[in-house]
Formats: sequence, structure tokens, C-alpha cells
Amino acid sequence: MTLKRARRSEVPPFRALSILSEVNQRIAAGQSIMRLEAGQPSVGAPEAALDYARERITRDPRQGYTEALGMGPLRVRIAEFYQTRYGLSIDPARIAVTVGSSGGFLLGFLSAFDAGDRVAMAAPGYPAYRNYLKALGLQAVEIETGPQTDYQPTPELLDRAVAQNGKIDGLILCSPSNPAGTMISPEGLKALCAWCDANGVRLVSDEVYHGLTYEGPAETVLRFTQDAIVFNSFSKYFAMTGWRLGWLVLPEDLCAPVKALAENLFVSPPTLAQHVAWKIFDHTDVLDGYVATYRKNRDILRTGLEEAGFSGLSRAQGAFYFYADIGDRTDDSAAFCARLLDEAGVSVTPGLDFDTRRGGQTIRLCYAGPTTDIEEAVRRLKAWGG
Ligand SMILES: Cc1ncc(COP(=O)(O)O)c(C=O)c1O
Repeated sequence: MTLKRARRSEVPPFRALSILSEVNQRIAAGQSIMRLEAGQPSVGAPEAALDYARERITRDPRQGYTEALGMGPLRVRIAEFYQTRYGLSIDPARIAVTVGSSGGFLLGFLSAFDAGDRVAMAAPGYPAYRNYLKALGLQAVEIETGPQTDYQPTPELLDRAVAQNGKIDGLILCSPSNPAGTMISPEGLKALCAWCDANGVRLVSDEVYHGLTYEGPAETVLRFTQDAIVFNSFSKYFAMTGWRLGWLVLPEDLCAPVKALAENLFVSPPTLAQHVAWKIFDHTDVLDGYVATYRKNRDILRTGLEEAGFSGLSRAQGAFYFYADIGDRTDDSAAFCARLLDEAGVSVTPGLDFDTRRGGQTIRLCYAGPTTDIEEAVRRLKAWGG
């Protein structure tokens, strides 16, 4: 007898992660590969924060659960960070510490949307949004964007999508974005917040790449609306990827539902990671040093890509990505990436993860690795005929 298997689990795998594990195997087998595929810092949390982790384990080897929404002192520190970074006063009661921002997506989406609701997102966009929505029985409404709007949605594009396909219940923004590294200006964000207000749409703002900006700081939607859910993460600017910690800033009406969901679904975010996160706010000087390296890498990679004949690069203003149009070379980005890996030893991600319709003609390159690797990747790309 064939047993029932849920259709909602039929989401595609995350290609970037499949490539990541293939590259791990090749490196273990002795191949020399310059890694531009994985979206994570190549450095870890500052040493002083790690020393603090060691001290905490010695002091309290038990490491029990914390409150479901995170340790009080960490929530206060995150709130203080909003004051320092944005000059905004946020009540710590509105902050929920989560298991990565990925865990925050679950709490945020479940608290804001019902099965069947329609949530808009940019294409190209972070693929987990689309797959998360599907697994939760929500409908992703993809708004096709291009270089004209820096791969970001605008009120005009949203009006058109609604006119063509009907009302939406939610909108996900991501600035700086994955995969394009592009940003929405403060005026643009304000206009999108006003559009959501006027159309009764719940705004969800993924701000995990805040802090990683090269042409002026990113603005938070919290400046313009009190109704949005904001996602953030310790994985990117804070370089704590594997510690699996993020946070939400919640509108008042979702605080109680998210608390109840977090208690039932997660019990608590990881305790040791929360201690490290609490400490890491003392070491933003080290983290800012990482940002300076990413900026240098970005400039080296942009010049190198242009010299290697890649035109059509996204305006990489933040995060650590370029999105490149390779439509003049191929419409099979997966095969292109496989050849690039085999023949030149450079790993990048095909655009198909981010844009299922047009991603055959694009790739994403991540410049979060060591500068020497970016330089070597550029040498290899130039030498490779492609
Ligand atoms: C746009 C975006 N949001 C969220 C995440 C998830 O990050 P984490 O769960 O580590 O916080 C990522 C990871 O790459 C991302 O690119």
C-alpha cells in the first residue's frame, strides 16, 4: 500500500546548498576551488565573543532552555542596537529571538497569514521565501523585477501585479537583497510602506543584510510603519552563521501569537548562541573590519568580472553578492556553472534558485571569501574562455 505523502513538502532543494556540499567533497578530494557560491562569511565571530562562550560553558555546563522569545538581556541589547544604528526606540517586548532568521520566517508567516493567503516577493529573490510559503499552504506571487528597478519591487509593479492577478495579503521586501545586493532607497521604502498601508497588505521586511552596506547605510521599514514584521539575523553582519540565531521585530498585534507559537514550535532559541550574541555587540569594531574586507572584495570582483567580459552586473550596494546576466553566453546557467567549476575551479550559483523563469540566464557570485581567493577567482575567470 502506498502511504500518503504531503504535497506541501514538494519544494525544490536549495541549489546553492547542493553545490556547497559538492564543492566540500571536491575540496576534501584535493581540488583547488575558489568558492563564490555560498552566501556566508568566511570569518567567524570575534575571538572575544568566543572566549565569552567558553567562559559561559564553564560557569554553567547545563545550558538549559531560555524564555521562548529569548533571554531578556539579549532582547534589551537588540533594542539598544536599534537606537544606536537607526536612532529608533523599540520596546524590547517587541523583539523575539529566533533560530536563525529562517526560524523567524516560520513564526512570522504563521502569525500573519492563513493558508491560501497570497504573499508577493521579488523575482529574482531568496528562494526559501517561495518554498517556505508553499510548505505553509500560502501562495507566492512573484513580481518580476530587473535592473531598471535594481531588482526591487516598486508600487507601480505591485499595482500591475494586483491588477493582473488579484489582491495580495502580504509583501516580502529584502534590502540589501539576495541575490542582487541591491538596496531600496529610504524614499522607495517609504513609498512601499504607504502602498502596503493603502492596500491593507502586511509588510514583511527581511533586513538580514543590514550592516553590510557600501554606499550608505540601509534604512529599516520600522522608520515608516509600525505594522511590519522585520526579520534580522546574527548570520551575516555578525558572522555567527552556524550558531543559528536571528530575531524578529514584531508589530504589537503579533507579539502574543508569536510568543505562543515560539513556545510550542521551538521551546527556546539556542542558549549558548544567545550568550555569544549578547557579547558580540561589544565588538562591532571587528565586524566593521569584516565589512571593509567585503567592500574591497566587491571592488576587485567587479573590475575582474568586467575585464573577463561579464557585463550586466547588478549594482552591488550591500550584502555580498553580484547578480550577473550571462544571457549573451548561455540560457543554461546550471550547465554554465558546472563547466566553470570543472574547467576553471570557480564555484558560483546558477540563477535558477532565485528566478525559476529567467534564472537560466543569470548567475550569483558571492564575495564574502578571503580577498586572496577573490583575486585568484578573478585570474581564473579571465583565463577561462567561458
Ligand atoms: C535574504 C536572506 N534571508 C534569510 C536568510 C537566512 O539566514 P539565517 O537563517 O542564517 O538567519 C538568508 C541566508 O542566506 C538570506 O540570504
